[in-house]
Amino acid sequence: MKKNILITGGAGFIGSHVVRRFVNRYPDYQIINLDALTYAGNLANLTDLETTENYTFRKCDITNVADVEAIFKEFKIHSVIHLAAESHVDRSITNPIDFVMTNVVGTVILLNAYKQYGEAADGRFYHVSTDEVYGTLGDDGKFTETTPYDPNSPYSASKASSDHFVRAYHETYKLPVVISNCSNNYGSHQFPEKLIPLMIHNIKNNKPLPVYGKGENVRDWLWVEDHASAIDVIFHEGRIGETYNIGGNNEWKNLDLVHKLCEIMDRKLGRPAGKSLELITFVTDRAGHDFRYAIDASKLENELGWSPSVAFDQGFEKTIDWYLENEEWLEGVTSGAYQSYYSEHYDHR
Ligand code: NAD
Ligand code: DAU
Repeated sequence: MKKNILITGGAGFIGSHVVRRFVNRYPDYQIINLDALTYAGNLANLTDLETTENYTFRKCDITNVADVEAIFKEFKIHSVIHLAAESHVDRSITNPIDFVMTNVVGTVILLNAYKQYGEAADGRFYHVSTDEVYGTLGDDGKFTETTPYDPNSPYSASKASSDHFVRAYHETYKLPVVISNCSNNYGSHQFPEKLIPLMIHNIKNNKPLPVYGKGENVRDWLWVEDHASAIDVIFHEGRIGETYNIGGNNEWKNLDLVHKLCEIMDRKLGRPAGKSLELITFVTDRAGHDFRYAIDASKLENELGWSPSVAFDQGFEKTIDWYLENEEWLEGVTSGAYQSYYSEHYDHR
């Protein structure tokens, strides 16, 4: 009998990498991808799996109790890997309620359905979360699993709240849960509202590169497939009730990262060196902009033997190549609603 593993948000950026990894590596699992296909969800991210026998897609909004319960009844769910979320900090600043609905209410609806209908004694509810729940760092230090929660944006407040609900279901109902908190991911299929694909798209089209504030904020970047491999190891071997931090040990100031991107893109596009740097435009900072994130992933490394597999230079080049080679994908997701989002967000900044 195959185990039915429900992956939520599998049509999104990280979710599509997780779904592909699990479908390809675990033929004994039936992977059910539950996704509402919001602006960030795209079945074009998974065309290679469409006819794969151990893969099933169900369009479903996790805030709809009846629809979520129907899927649990239909499939006898063994375990859940929960990635569905509203994920963009800037959108959470303009529209926090969407984030409360999906990230908080939706997560509780899933927890409740798993509590009621989850089938297996050895199953688990794995919640995929973010390092942003810990707030912001100064120049030194790293987030560990015991860093107190201190979220600053509506997005991170909603993710912190969902983490707390997951823990509460463990304490109160003994639900077998595990949580991971990861740093910034980069790689293929990321919606171009996020820094790296947005900048790639703009460089390609000779559009201004909007750097918030002075570009001094720092992020810790991880190759998305290394996030997927960490999720794999934590799902299978992580201890119930525990939290694991995941990070790339790869800190970059935003401006330095954009400089590096311009340099590589000029080379790849055959433009004179330094040409794309002229596109850099400093714009009004993000409200409540967290200064620095950095992850201490030693618990995951020491306990479960995980470490990132790809060096940043290599992963970054591969990422840029993917966006350049997949012009149709990029043009598809940057037409229509993206245009109005972009002008509302950037035109008067
Ligand atoms: P994404 O925005 O690319 O994808 C989110 C997916 O969730 C989309 O497919 C969307 O259709 C789906 N979704 C949204 N609302 C839904 C709803 N109400 N019901 C069902 N599906 C819904 O996000 P991502 O960057 O892939 O992030 C995935 C998860 O990983 C999120 O929980 C996010 O908080 C977490 N995370 C992201 C990063 C990062 O760097 N991107 C880092 C750490 C953690
Ligand atoms: O740390 C994990 C988090 O990383 C995830 O939980 C979030 O889902 C994910 O979106 C990401 O959040 P960030 O806010 O760090 O990512 P973003 O790509 O939006 O921004 C990265 C940095 O770049 C941040 O300091 C803001 C800055 N930035 C971003 C955009 C979109 C710019 O300077 N200009 C931009 O246009």
